Amino acid sequence: MKPIDKSASETASKLKALFAELYGGHFTLYRAPGRVNLIGEHTDYNDGFVMPAALDLYTYVAVSPRPDRRLSVYSETLAEMRDLDLDSIRPGKSGDWSDYVRGVAGVLESYGYKLRGADIAITSEVPLGSGLSSSAALEVSTAWALLSNSEINVDRNAIPQMCQRAEHLYPETKCGIMDQFISCHGRAGHALMLDCRSLDFQLLPVPSQVRLMVCNTMVRHEHASGGYNTRQGECEEGLRALQQVLPDIRALRDVTIDELERHRSRLTPLIYKRVRHVVTENERVKMAACALRAADMAKLGELMADSHRSLRDDYEVSTPELDLMVELARDQKDVYGARMTGGGFGGCTISLVHSDLAEEVQQKLGQLYEAKTGLSPTILICEASDGSGAVAET
Ligand code: GLA
Repeated sequence: MKPIDKSASETASKLKALFAELYGGHFTLYRAPGRVNLIGEHTDYNDGFVMPAALDLYTYVAVSPRPDRRLSVYSETLAEMRDLDLDSIRPGKSGDWSDYVRGVAGVLESYGYKLRGADIAITSEVPLGSGLSSSAALEVSTAWALLSNSEINVDRNAIPQMCQRAEHLYPETKCGIMDQFISCHGRAGHALMLDCRSLDFQLLPVPSQVRLMVCNTMVRHEHASGGYNTRQGECEEGLRALQQVLPDIRALRDVTIDELERHRSRLTPLIYKRVRHVVTENERVKMAACALRAADMAKLGELMADSHRSLRDDYEVSTPELDLMVELARDQKDVYGARMTGGGFGGCTISLVHSDLAEEVQQKLGQLYEAKTGLSPTILICEASDGSGAVAET
């Protein structure tokens, strides 16, 4: 096992005291990271391509077995305790944060994994609800903890799909596979290009001088989850209309831009725009992979700019605050590229910045954004990091 980093050892000691107070005794520790997506937005549920990186921000789950079939779950982040009975978990949403834990436990059991009861303490560095995929980090770290606690060995490859299913059936968000996948398979210093149909992936080195600057606009619109499901429905509508004339297509991933233009009259103007985003975004991801391989940051920056425009104008999931943050970042020299990241309707932008100037840019962006909006943004300088797993003993 790799030596653990500073944040893991600090978290482990913090949890040690907490765990002793709550439950007494020893625990084992698992963690899973949040993510940022460099390019390839709203393509995962259309069987397309994405290019996320795991962040050096993790959710930690400390676990020890209990003799019964209960899960006693304490969130250090929210200072709340929940008690769940493994024998009465059923799909459906309650709206509580524990839906993610309940969901993972419920899905693992539905796959035939008989779980032991557990005492659990959770703490997270991933800011909640800001589009950095705190939910997937919670699901994936919980899956590792529950499985290991029950002495069940599961292939890392099986975890993302089970966690995605948990999110569909319990919190009832019809998310794609991107977030859970990168949380499991992230690699330090690399972005990951994923084919969301075959789940084949390639790790692409992020040039060592590049930092991932994540800028939280501090605005999250209420229709975030509703809007997400609406967009998905619009893609399905586009797919059904195009299948009338292109019977071989299984998902929007199979549509070319020429085919879309040829059959444009079959779609309403709105659905046409939604489909155009998905079709062009998939192409951009493939070009971005070539650019990253060649360390051509100028090209990658152009593709990020096009992606943002497409999300703003065609997919309509950006906000004035996201647009402003992206514009301000692009005006800074030494920012290679910037765009909104994640599902949209608020949340964060990603900027790729030269490491030497990252702190200067961080400060300037913060000041400019605050001067224009009156909001004080959280701006993090991150690095691409490793995916989920056990944290070795301190
Ligand atoms: C959310 C979902 C992902 C993906 C993005 C948009 O983060 O969880 O599956 O669809 O939005 O790219």
